[in-house]
Amino acid sequence: MTDAIQTTVPSHGLRTPRSQGARHSRRSVSLSGTWRFRLSPTAQGTGPLPGADTAEWDEIEVPGHWVLQGYGDPLYTNTAYPFPIDPPRVPDENPTGDYVRTFVLPHGWRREGATLLFQGADSAARVWLNGTEIGWWTGSRLPAELDVGELLREGENTLAVRVYRFSAGSYLEDQDMWWLPGLFRDVLLLEGRAIDDIHVHADYDHTTGEGILRVDVTGPGGGPLEASIDLPGLGLRELPAAVEHRIADVAPWSAESPTLYDLTVRAAGEEAEQRIGFRTVSITDGVLQVNGTPIRMRGVNRHEQHWERGRSLTYDDMLTDVLMMKRHNLNAVRTAHYPPHPDFLALCDTYGLWVVEEGDIETHGFIYDGWERNPPADEAWTPALIERTARMVERDKNHPSIIIWSLANESEGGVGFDAIEAWVRDRDPSRPIHYERDRTYHNSDFYSVMYPSLQEVAAIGRREEETPEALAENPEGESRRRALPFLLCEFAHAQGNGPGSLADYEEIFASSDRFCGAFVWEWIDHGYRATTEAGETYVRHGGDIDYQPNGQRYCHDGLLFADRTPSPGLAQYAKVNEPVRIVVSGRAVTVTSRYQVRDTASLAYGWVLERDGIEVARGDLDVPVLAPGESAEVPLALPGESGGVGEAWLTVSAAVREDTAWAPAGHVVAWGQGLLDGGAPRHVSPAQAGGVDQRGETVAVGPLVLDARTGAVRALGELPLTDLQLDVWRAPTENDHGQGALNNTAKMWRAVGLDRMLHRVDGLDIDAGSVTVRGRTAPATQPFGLVTAFTWSPVDERSVRLTVDITPDGPWHDTPYGHHRVVLPRLGVRLALPASLESLTWFGLGPGEAYADSREAARVGRWSLPIDSLGVSYPHPQENGNRHRVRWAALAGTGTPGLRVDADGPIDVTVRRCTNHDLDRASKPYEIPRREATYLHLDHALRGLGSSSVGPALPEQYEIPIESTRYAVVLTVTD
Ligand code: GAL
Repeated sequence: MTDAIQTTVPSHGLRTPRSQGARHSRRSVSLSGTWRFRLSPTAQGTGPLPGADTAEWDEIEVPGHWVLQGYGDPLYTNTAYPFPIDPPRVPDENPTGDYVRTFVLPHGWRREGATLLFQGADSAARVWLNGTEIGWWTGSRLPAELDVGELLREGENTLAVRVYRFSAGSYLEDQDMWWLPGLFRDVLLLEGRAIDDIHVHADYDHTTGEGILRVDVTGPGGGPLEASIDLPGLGLRELPAAVEHRIADVAPWSAESPTLYDLTVRAAGEEAEQRIGFRTVSITDGVLQVNGTPIRMRGVNRHEQHWERGRSLTYDDMLTDVLMMKRHNLNAVRTAHYPPHPDFLALCDTYGLWVVEEGDIETHGFIYDGWERNPPADEAWTPALIERTARMVERDKNHPSIIIWSLANESEGGVGFDAIEAWVRDRDPSRPIHYERDRTYHNSDFYSVMYPSLQEVAAIGRREEETPEALAENPEGESRRRALPFLLCEFAHAQGNGPGSLADYEEIFASSDRFCGAFVWEWIDHGYRATTEAGETYVRHGGDIDYQPNGQRYCHDGLLFADRTPSPGLAQYAKVNEPVRIVVSGRAVTVTSRYQVRDTASLAYGWVLERDGIEVARGDLDVPVLAPGESAEVPLALPGESGGVGEAWLTVSAAVREDTAWAPAGHVVAWGQGLLDGGAPRHVSPAQAGGVDQRGETVAVGPLVLDARTGAVRALGELPLTDLQLDVWRAPTENDHGQGALNNTAKMWRAVGLDRMLHRVDGLDIDAGSVTVRGRTAPATQPFGLVTAFTWSPVDERSVRLTVDITPDGPWHDTPYGHHRVVLPRLGVRLALPASLESLTWFGLGPGEAYADSREAARVGRWSLPIDSLGVSYPHPQENGNRHRVRWAALAGTGTPGLRVDADGPIDVTVRRCTNHDLDRASKPYEIPRREATYLHLDHALRGLGSSSVGPALPEQYEIPIESTRYAVVLTVTD
């Protein structure tokens, strides 16, 4: 047995943690690469490790997780521990990896003070150098550094590491994510130096424009070291360290203007480099400020995740994340729920992202023990909590991007939190502290909750939210809490199609400066690339691995798909967070800056005028440079325009004027649209009398052929057109499934039978000017249904008008299923067309999918896409690909007549090669059949998306009202 897996003591043999910068400036040898590897099923191992003969062992890559390199499987749990709750012990079934490699000590290296640095070993490791044990530790996402000086040999050295999948530390690491063991971050040998650590205090006085700098330099053993500093960027040389300097004319650091300066520290004949940024974080009158300016974080929760490498990210992966965030108008990251690779933080410094850095602490699984024995409430664990916190704060203390320390996630409260809060306040009083899950908030400088409804957020903005139960009897604590700024650490659960309401939240955030930031859950789907035997690629979720318990699909809840392709949700979030708001009203354009720090000089503006989606004219627009929060109204002299058929829309956009570090010139950051005029209507011919002609078994309504007995549609001119029905179903989205029993609308739909609607035709009313097919659609068992009338009237020899009347019938509103009211997934008609149709062109919102509560990223225009590119392949098949507020749409193919649809008012349109039921039945994209047909949905409405997969119920305004409804379209057969 070994300590690392059975005691609350967090480590043995680690040296005092220190900053990443201090390490960077010393010489190092990378020990990443190929190691010898042996996996044992238990922590006892299959034999002694130091001195083992590794000749027969496998080889493995470091950094990496062994479960992603062919040894067992990754396991996904959300809240459950994958071992019995019996702290601090874990079972014998505990796969353990032995890693061995040799390295050569570089010639001329000073051995004294040399260390081994492990940037991340999940979950615990024990290390031998040249046969001598030098230490062990827990803390998976934290650095561990060990002194090795005396043990280093000239020439070849042998390093052996035993890594345990589970350890006592795993009790502190129950984040909602995959359990991924291994040496998953770099391993380094570092040279000993006189400069042991650097602590930079770089504040900014916004009243004078001065930087206030003190650099504390410590030598071996942690004592102060006499040192001097240079800041060539500010013309400063040989300033003494350890004293405060006020420096005039400093450019402060912010996420919008991330100015960094190179600092050189000199001591004992050595030099060390550190990049620094000046900034001061404060909370004044309940408002979070940086450099005296209130800020609002528009953020995401980011786990480290790659669909092949797990939490072993390359520098390019990290850079990709940062660039994508910047390009999507995000300005903040919460490092959910552990310190990331240090390079990620350096990238945030460089490119400009506010960072809430979170400790590697979550004990969520104690919920299954009624929070008995929860480590933060048990003093035995306090040293471990302090050590974890210290390893984070010491490593990352010099990053200007980190403006808030978050102590932990979802671990309730206790003495341990008092201890780590006190430790942080003492060590780094310059940054405020966040912790969400202790409802007294006494350790936190922020009020914080997760997944509130719009109403709850609005109340928080007014500081009128309900008092948390934990503070009901504590008026003093409650008035402190109510005065705090509000940090929405998680909202808008991005699982599957959604999230909805991003724009609604944004509107509320803008209403109060109590809102200092909000973080969408989450950045990227955690899933693994896999291939079926037939060669089809898919993305694995927890339930695809034969293991219990598992968190199923909850790991697929990011704004990026697992392969880092942006989901429509990210486009939506980018639009909602655009840095300038452009409102086009008639011929006037109002631009409002939403920057908080910088002006808009870097932006260039352009406009384009389109009629019926066809460009008529375009030009540049001169908008004065705006200070943060400022607005300007700019008149636009448009060329004389003669009018015509279809709507005229003016689109104004703002783009980056010159190449920036994160985007090329021309990258659009914001746009706005306004309707100039509605144009002349397209279909002028009124329904014509006399176009109805009954011939035996069929009846013709202009070009439309119906079955005279059943009313079934057969063709429109030469175009076969069949299966026209009322359709209320959609393949439930992840959000339709809610969370277990909570908001599980899909379960209600199935229980009620909305997925199995039955249809009846009651009769045909045929007269000279129209044919009406009367019917009723309803689920089995239920007393309620929808009475329908499809009225066909001829328009001309190629066109026919369809008017759809839907009337609710029976007790819809009488809660037939538990406490759920019956609501509809969709309401409209569906019809089948030939598979030979290939493309869809439409005028309406596009180019991407859009829904009632998620449509801001879509613009009015004329768009054209192959039918097979209209859908979005969510990893779990579900409703997708809807086009919203469509005025007209045209389906075309080669060698087949096409179909044009003109709607009286905007409708929802979906076109795909399978039915809703096909989509619903599939559990992986490759299971969706591709039928020999094209299905066209012409919907009066689709239910909104919401974010109930974890979050509130869909806001009422996005439900489809169950009321009498009429809408109409003209169908035209085209060549
Ligand atoms: C939160 C938690 C996250 C994640 C999310 C749901 O409660 O902090 O880690 O589990 O819910 O996906």
